[in-house]
Amino acid sequence: MKYTYLDCLALFGVGGAHPGGLQLTKKILAEEKINKETTLLDAGCGTGQTAAYLQQHYGCSVSALDNNSTMVDKAHQRFSSLGLPIDTKVGDIENPPYPDKQFDIVLSESVISFTRVSATIPEIKRVLKQNGRLFAIETVLEQPLSEEERSHIVDFYRFPQLFTEEEWLTAFRDAGFQRIDVTKYQPGLVKVDEQHAADYSLSETIDDGLLEILEEHEEIMQQHKENLGFRIFRCS
Ligand SMILES: C[S@@+](CC[C@H](N)C(=O)[O-])C[C@H]1O[C@@H](n2cnc3c(N)ncnc32)[C@H](O)[C@@H]1O
Repeated sequence: MKYTYLDCLALFGVGGAHPGGLQLTKKILAEEKINKETTLLDAGCGTGQTAAYLQQHYGCSVSALDNNSTMVDKAHQRFSSLGLPIDTKVGDIENPPYPDKQFDIVLSESVISFTRVSATIPEIKRVLKQNGRLFAIETVLEQPLSEEERSHIVDFYRFPQLFTEEEWLTAFRDAGFQRIDVTKYQPGLVKVDEQHAADYSLSETIDDGLLEILEEHEEIMQQHKENLGFRIFRCS
């Protein structure tokens, strides 16, 4: 079977599968006013490392959504074992199963890049309250690539698009976000400590094909470290 990169993350059960991991998440959210009344959606929650932290740390109302049922099972196990009341659903962020104006905050930690941006961002805007905020940590194309390089990357990650920073800004503005702050995130600048390392929840079957996918991911990251970058978008 030919696995995708996201299958691989799900079967290894990687928690904190975004640039900067939980350490960066904490840093971004430490600047925000979050309390027990805050309603927050972790869109593309993966195995739920961030959602669990947010519920434990702030006592806020957390919803967790992912379209991969293996991820959601693992997130659910994490929340149950910690006794955390987190509403957890299998669903698509391109068509999120929530009413309008439900959330104060939506987080997308390396998720929108894997979806059709033009479908996802307006839907995130729809489920946000009037003054709600979106925090997104996403991949950007830093400089033009040959067609061959570009297809290698988008085919491997199954990215429906690979946006420059400017293209991301246009997509956020088109969906009605008026204020967008952008910060460049440079992997490796801050050393990740043990407390914030990615965690793993392995599925029973892990075959060699999955290790090959992880290797190819590392190779792409290394080979394209000047071409692929990451941004933190704070949108309201
Ligand atoms: C790189 S992982 C990041 C997971 C998590 N945010 C984290 O930081 O650990 C991307 C996640 O987005 C989920 N995802 C991709 N497309 C999605 C969609 N259309 N709707 C919901 N989740 C999606 C994947 O299943 C995966 O869990």
